[in-house]
Amino acid sequence: MGEYFGDVLSRAMSRRDVLRGAFYGTAVLAVGSCGGSCAEEPLSFRTIYPNNEDRITLPEGYQHNVVIRWGDPLDNGPALDWNRIRQSGPTAQDVDRQKSCFGYNCDFVGYFQTPDNKHLLVVNHEYCNPEIMFPIPFLTNNAPTPGRPTQEESQLMLEAHGLSVVEIRRKTDGSWEYVKGSSYNRRITGSTKCEITGPAREHRLMKTYYDPNGESVFGTLNNCAAGKTPWGTVLTCEENFHSYFGGNRANITGDDAQLISSIHQRYGVPGSFAPYYGFMNLTDQQNRRRFLIESVNGEPKEAFRFGWVVEIDPMNPQSTPKKRTALGRFKHEAATYAIANDGRVVIYMGDDERFEYVYKFITKGRYNPADSSANMDLLDEGELYVAKFNDDLTGQWILIAKCERNAQGQYTITPNPNLPEPFRSDPVLCYINTRGAADSLGATKMDRPEDIEWNPVTKSAWVALTNNERRGASNQPGTDRANPRANNVMGHILEIMENGGDPAATSFRWQIPVLCGDPNVADQNNKLVIYGQNASSQVPAISAPDNFVIDRLGNIWIATDGNPSSSRLRKNDGVYVLNPFRRELKMFLSGVPGCEICGPEFSNDWKTFFCAIQHPGETDTNEPNSRWPYGDNASTPRPSVIAVWRTDGREIFA
Ligand code: FEO
Ligand code: CA
Ligand code: CA
Ligand code: CA
Repeated sequence: MGEYFGDVLSRAMSRRDVLRGAFYGTAVLAVGSCGGSCAEEPLSFRTIYPNNEDRITLPEGYQHNVVIRWGDPLDNGPALDWNRIRQSGPTAQDVDRQKSCFGYNCDFVGYFQTPDNKHLLVVNHEYCNPEIMFPIPFLTNNAPTPGRPTQEESQLMLEAHGLSVVEIRRKTDGSWEYVKGSSYNRRITGSTKCEITGPAREHRLMKTYYDPNGESVFGTLNNCAAGKTPWGTVLTCEENFHSYFGGNRANITGDDAQLISSIHQRYGVPGSFAPYYGFMNLTDQQNRRRFLIESVNGEPKEAFRFGWVVEIDPMNPQSTPKKRTALGRFKHEAATYAIANDGRVVIYMGDDERFEYVYKFITKGRYNPADSSANMDLLDEGELYVAKFNDDLTGQWILIAKCERNAQGQYTITPNPNLPEPFRSDPVLCYINTRGAADSLGATKMDRPEDIEWNPVTKSAWVALTNNERRGASNQPGTDRANPRANNVMGHILEIMENGGDPAATSFRWQIPVLCGDPNVADQNNKLVIYGQNASSQVPAISAPDNFVIDRLGNIWIATDGNPSSSRLRKNDGVYVLNPFRRELKMFLSGVPGCEICGPEFSNDWKTFFCAIQHPGETDTNEPNSRWPYGDNASTPRPSVIAVWRTDGREIFA
């Protein structure tokens, strides 16, 4: 593979200018005017600061409650007996209960109001912590203890992944509770049948022993963040899917063996975490192992059926989740929408791994606000782009491929003519091996793109680049202006201003509003820099930005995943708010030891803030460092969704 475009650019950069942040002070561009309706008022709450308390902390005047926890039943059956599961391990009955109980490690949280005025949350369950869920010791010398996970542990973890759809209701004191047995409640897990739609459906690499036509797959896995569509569905994102696949690439044989193996290598399949899940040891009725990538007894192609954006209709509990292959295959963090000036739908997406890319998809059809059912298959035809960030603060969206269907449902795929073989002669590979296609088009390798959110007030897209300590290391890409810090442990936030304010534009300008860090450290590389200026010592330290939600005034609410690291703040993760008009940053919420904060979200009246407290207590050992949310004689912490409200009943940011 040739030299990456970003590597070439980096050599032209002055590292000293970049580190000083001065580079940005003069480069900051005016953001769109908001006619006085935006967040020109200061944030009303008094900031909190990062801390290590074993409780949720909030500014004065706010309260919270726990809405739902791992193991809470969505039906009228009993809760998962997590204390017993921690003490003596799960049984087949526990596996069965997990299929109807709230899953583990909640990530994305999406709030919806139903046509009959009920309130729903759609929650992703990204991964599992077997060392916390199951009997001690799960880990010995940083590897699974021999004989672990047991078959029941693996099966329970498979069912604890996926999503939950759950009805909630507000109580008179402002807190929220979930509704057991609601007809809306639903679990989607690692074994729920999903349909494959779009250009990769029926491709030979999508066909397996249990699905010879390449039309459907059991389960959705590693659902990290997501987005909501204006037609009321959720785009849940399969991120680190490689974690579940085990085996040896050398044992892939037969047709396409070399192609399959090379794509798997580009995506890190098999993953080093596979032994912690043990899915590759689970056999099915055909006595095959779908998570084993080897040809004998396994299935080399099952991994191609993960790594997609999956559309779920929470209003219809009978609906089949759809893996939308037109949006490309990578380690999808999130997929959030904006409506183009001409009514087409634009989906922004990040591939969260070091040196991966920022993407967007533009639908062929236009959004029909008058008829939600008319939008249900919009995401099956359109154009897939990858971003290139130039050092002159401009950028381009480079077309990877365009796909459309005829009346018989047959696809025509037009790949970028600059793509090499085999993408041109077998253009479905643009979707199955999207990373490989982007590599050859000169896209910019970024510092782990996480959430990207369109801000309708600033009319720009906000990109979280969580961190990348390998930037600038030997044999790794160097810095460039969009990823300006070598050893970028703190992360940064980048803003894309599309030409004409149109999300469907193919060129843009960009800037870096925030280089994350601590205002009170000496090393400029780890200092907090806001719009090119070193932040004052009174501004709270922030690192590892991950998920965003934008409020009605255009403020950016930022959830973090990485503050506790010894190379960062050594404090709990939290939620911060950036007012982009006043260039002000405050901290709104601090989590508990071991957790990251995910799924920032608002109720439709802006009076409740929801978020997920993911992996509370997570350490590198068998002993959690928190048992939050406590209660019930807890022997284990439980990932949970919380609700936050103002005691005076006003909008959260009032
Ligand atoms: Fe699952 Fe990129 O965080
Ligand atoms: Ca994330
Ligand atoms: Ca978001
Ligand atoms: Ca993260």
